[in-house]
This record gives sequence, structure tokens and C-alpha cells, in this order.
Amino acid sequence: MSKVERANFGSKLGVILASAGSAVGLGNIWRFPCEVGENGGAAFMLVYLACVIFLGVPVMTSEFLIGRRSRANAAMAYNVLAPGSKWSFVGLMGVFASFLILSYYTVVAGWTLEYSVAAASNKLSSGVDFVGFFNDFVANPWKSSLYVVLFMVLTHLVIIRGVTDGIERFSKIMMPVLLVIIIVLVFCSFFMPGAGAGLTFLLKPDFSKLTPEVALNAMGQAFFSLSIGMGCLCTYGSYFSKDTNLMKTAGSVAFIDTMVAFMAGFIIFPAVYSVPGLSPDAGPGLVFVTMPNVFNMVFSGLPWLGYLFSVLFYVLLVLAALTSTVSLHEVATAYIHERFNLSRKTGAYIVTVVCSVLGILCALSFGVLNGYRLFDMTVFDLFDFFSAKFLMPLGGMLISIFTGWYLDKNILKEEITNGGSIKVRFFKIYVLLLKYFAPIAIGVIFINELFK
Ligand code: TRP
Repeated sequence: MSKVERANFGSKLGVILASAGSAVGLGNIWRFPCEVGENGGAAFMLVYLACVIFLGVPVMTSEFLIGRRSRANAAMAYNVLAPGSKWSFVGLMGVFASFLILSYYTVVAGWTLEYSVAAASNKLSSGVDFVGFFNDFVANPWKSSLYVVLFMVLTHLVIIRGVTDGIERFSKIMMPVLLVIIIVLVFCSFFMPGAGAGLTFLLKPDFSKLTPEVALNAMGQAFFSLSIGMGCLCTYGSYFSKDTNLMKTAGSVAFIDTMVAFMAGFIIFPAVYSVPGLSPDAGPGLVFVTMPNVFNMVFSGLPWLGYLFSVLFYVLLVLAALTSTVSLHEVATAYIHERFNLSRKTGAYIVTVVCSVLGILCALSFGVLNGYRLFDMTVFDLFDFFSAKFLMPLGGMLISIFTGWYLDKNILKEEITNGGSIKVRFFKIYVLLLKYFAPIAIGVIFINELFK
């Protein structure tokens, strides 16, 4: 495909919101509060912040750079920048990871859709046993498969509209809506009876809780949340225009992503501390089991407010998940479209069908397929482990080595300064972080996660 035919994001705001749409997702609103709860609160958040700044922003900038310089999809980008070398393997690994992550991520995304429907039809009202409700739903083969397919179809509908009319336009509408919903929810949370205790948990660091394990969890979470390490942002970078400021964009995306994660914490913990008997380290059930309880108990005098709060909350999760599944889908679609010279539409169909089938397998692993295990992991766990804990860290490490050591420094400088037209203060620090800090730090997480 010639360079002229490739799509581009139309505006600076579109670039930022589409990339932020990829980054902001279940990782922020579902996984982040879980991790904060299990890793002791404020001290974890500080380490997380350091990881976002010193690791996340440089690696994200590099992904954008690889994408924009090559103007190709995640895998072929390396053929353009390092022809004839083995580097394209890094890109292929990313495309492969996108299939796996999209498949299992859509299972949880499907739950959020189911919970939105349940909340809207008032099935999450008081008197319901939420643990039973959650367990029944995830074990029900038909329902959970149906919601996987539904979510995949929603994603498909955005993708087939293309980069500018689909991804960019969708993100430009959804991201502000999402931010407004979050702010409304944070505001409501501040008025809950447990707000004080929740805020103390989030804001007063207890450094005795800071173990190496906590620090490593923070790095892993930063990686997942920022969508880095598998070519997602590299693919989006290939749609950036010549005058997009790469480092500033990475900074803005990291800022929005971190704000949303922190705000999710500010929604969930005041609420958790408002209900007797609930604890912040409830794990993955926090959002699906704890929150409906919270809505009912906190608003028991005002059921309509509880209803409104819960519908808003789950719709928020759906929107956040959808802009992320779109970005994962795009990695695979762009690759198939350009590599095999198929139309974008055909590429998208292939990805949707393959990932729906894999997604159903993951969904069924909570019920009928639960007994089928490899290394004691269900299909869902296996996909999660292999992509998020193996392919992504490895990808991130190789991306920093590729840009820090392999790529010509002049190319790096040219891309970061847009051919000298913008002044960039942090260039030297960026290169140092890429060459030494990122590969070593990621190597440490990687090895720790792998041999845990
Ligand atoms: N970052 C998203 C979230 O926080 C999920 C996601 C989208 C992702 N694209 C990714 C994770 C690529 C890893 C790699 O929910």
C-alpha cells in the first residue's frame, strides 16, 4: 500500500483522545482499584506514578515513533525501519498478542455489558445475592458467550467505519462522556459516609507496606493500563500526522490514563468503606460483586439514586472497555489488511470471527470448560498470563532496546523534534531512560513475573 493511501487521524485532539481511549479501559476502572486494594493503597499509587512517568512515557513515545516513522502496521513497521533483520518478530509477537488480549478482554467487557443491562432493568436492586448472581452469570455458557459476541460486534461496527470516521470520531464523543460520568461519580462518592476512611486509604502512604512485590505489581499495572508493549500505540502512531508532537502526546495520554485510574479509586474506596463488612482487598469481585452492594446499601433511602448511580457506573465500564477493544482489534485488522492485501472490511471480519471463537472459549472456561487446564490454568488465565505477563513485557523491553540502541540517533531526534521544528527539553533523559532504565526495569518485572 502506498503511503498516500494510508488513513490519518484528522486532528490533534483526535490523536490524543483515540490513544487515551485505548489506554483508558477496564485496566483503569476494574484492575487498578483491585491492585490498589490488594497492595495497600497510597504507597502503591506513588510507585505506580513513578512507573508511568519513567517507564510508561518513554516506551509509549517510542511506540508512537516506530509507528509514525514507518507508517505501517505493528508488524511491518520493523520491515520498514530495519529491513532484513529479525526485529519484525517483535511486531509479529504484538499482533499475536492482540488476538489473545482481545479475546479474553472481551469476556470481562461482556460482563460489563451484562451488568449495564441488569442495572438498567433493575435486577441489581436490594435483596439480590450478588455473589451468586455473578457466579451464575459467568458459569452460564449461553449468556456469557452471547455477551462476548455482542461486544465483539460492537467493536467491529466501530472498526469497519475506518480510522477517521470510526475510531477517531467514536473516541472524540465517548472520551468526554466518560470523563463527565467519572467526575459525577467521584463527586457522589465524596458524600458517602465512608469517604473519610476511603480517602485516608488512598492518600496516606504506609511505607511499611512497600515490598518489592508491590513495586513489581505497580510496574505491571502501568504497562497494561497504558496499552504498551505490543504495538497497539505503534499502530495508532502510524496514523499520526507529521506535526504531532510525539512526546507531548505520550505525556497527555499518560496523564489522562492516570487521572482516570486515580478517579476510579476515588469512586470505589469511599464507597467500599461506607458499607460495613466490605474490605478494600476483595479482588476482582470488587467491581462486579461489591459495587452493586454498595449502591444498594448507600442509597437505601433513595433507591432511584442508587439505580441511577449503578446504571451510570456500568455504562462507564462499557464505554471504557469499548475504546480499548477497538484499539486491540485495529492492531490485528491493520496487519491483515496490509500484509495480505485484503480489504479493511475483510480483515476486520476475520479478526472478529477468530476472536469471537477464542473469546467464547475463554468465557466458557469459567463454567463448562473449567476442568480443561494447562499448567493448572484455564483458557482465560492462560491467555492472560501468556500475553500480559510474557508477550507484553518482552515486547516493551525489545521496543526500548530497538529505539534506544538499534535505531539511528538522528532518526530518533528527527521524529521527536519533528525535523527540528519543535524544541524538546527532555530528549537526553528520554534516550537514557530507553537505553538503560527501561530494559533493566522491565527485565526485572519480567523475570519476577515469570518465575513467581
Ligand atoms: N489499556 C487498556 C486498559 O487499561 C487495555 C488495552 C488496550 C491493552 N490495548 C492494550 C492492554 C494493549 C495491553 C496491550 O484497559
